[in-house]
Amino acid sequence: MKGILLAGGRGTRLYPATRAVSKHLLAVYDKPMIYYPLSTLMLAGIREVLVISAPGDLPGFARLLGDGSRLGMDIRYAIQEAPRGVAEALLIGEAFIGGGPVCLALGDNILYGEGLPRLLERAAARREGATVFGCPVEDPRQYGVLGFGPGGAVASIEEKPRAPQSHYAVPGLYFYDGQAAALAKTVRPSERGELEITAVNSAYLGQGRLHVELLGRGVAWLDAGTPAALLKASAFVEAVQARTGRPVACIEEIAWRQGFISRRELAALGRALEMTDYGRYLISCGEADDHE
Ligand code: DAU
Repeated sequence: MKGILLAGGRGTRLYPATRAVSKHLLAVYDKPMIYYPLSTLMLAGIREVLVISAPGDLPGFARLLGDGSRLGMDIRYAIQEAPRGVAEALLIGEAFIGGGPVCLALGDNILYGEGLPRLLERAAARREGATVFGCPVEDPRQYGVLGFGPGGAVASIEEKPRAPQSHYAVPGLYFYDGQAAALAKTVRPSERGELEITAVNSAYLGQGRLHVELLGRGVAWLDAGTPAALLKASAFVEAVQARTGRPVACIEEIAWRQGFISRRELAALGRALEMTDYGRYLISCGEADDHE
């Protein structure tokens, strides 16, 4: 399965912090925001990733991630000329996807928690239809929102409804079979002028081919699109890391645990950053023998 990481948009809700830099390159505590959704894709076993961003921002991502080879990955880049909507990623990435399955991750969404890797592996292994997630939130009005039928099955997904049918919002992580680009082509701009990913997901639902996994209390979902949300996300990562002694979204460690790179390659990445806690952690986790 291939992965698309969508990291464009104007980031206006974070102005002036994002006037000169993509919000996805801002730090969430101790690492760039994009590390978090990238690590989600890697935990799903995905090694080939297309990063899509605005023309002026792509060089920053290329400086950060390169061609991916140091992580045992293949990372490519494509431009979104203007923020015309999340579903446009499936059109821009059509040739990259090549008619196969794809996972689309939004660059400002952070997922963390117990059992998440297994959930991701299961979604990636599903060869037919689409898989999205549902996560209870206090105020779902700014998200895609699930509606449930009398039997408890998902009956609708609405984008930013004024009167939400439930508290279950849909995070920015979508697994699709080979039909995604074709369905995205049928989507017309919404009232707010965007190609909505919710329209693609609704099309799968209409065909009876949408799987929805509800996330329990063990999984935290954060988006980092406003100053307050960014601060909360940083505080969350700091608290988890300080308590467990383990970094969240450490892409080098994940590359090693997933078998993308060898122990020796991990140690070399650590030595290059030896002057930092991050580098010293990489060296120590390659030396430890645990693979839990
Ligand atoms: O965060 C999850 C929500 O993301 C979902 O619940 C919604 O269903 C989905 O539509 C989306 O909501 P928004 O459209 O409000 O997301 P936002 O504009 O904040 O953009 C999400 C990410 O995608 C962000 O990292 C910027 C990037 N993006 C967005 C658009 C519209 C692009 O790169 N290009 C775009 O054209």
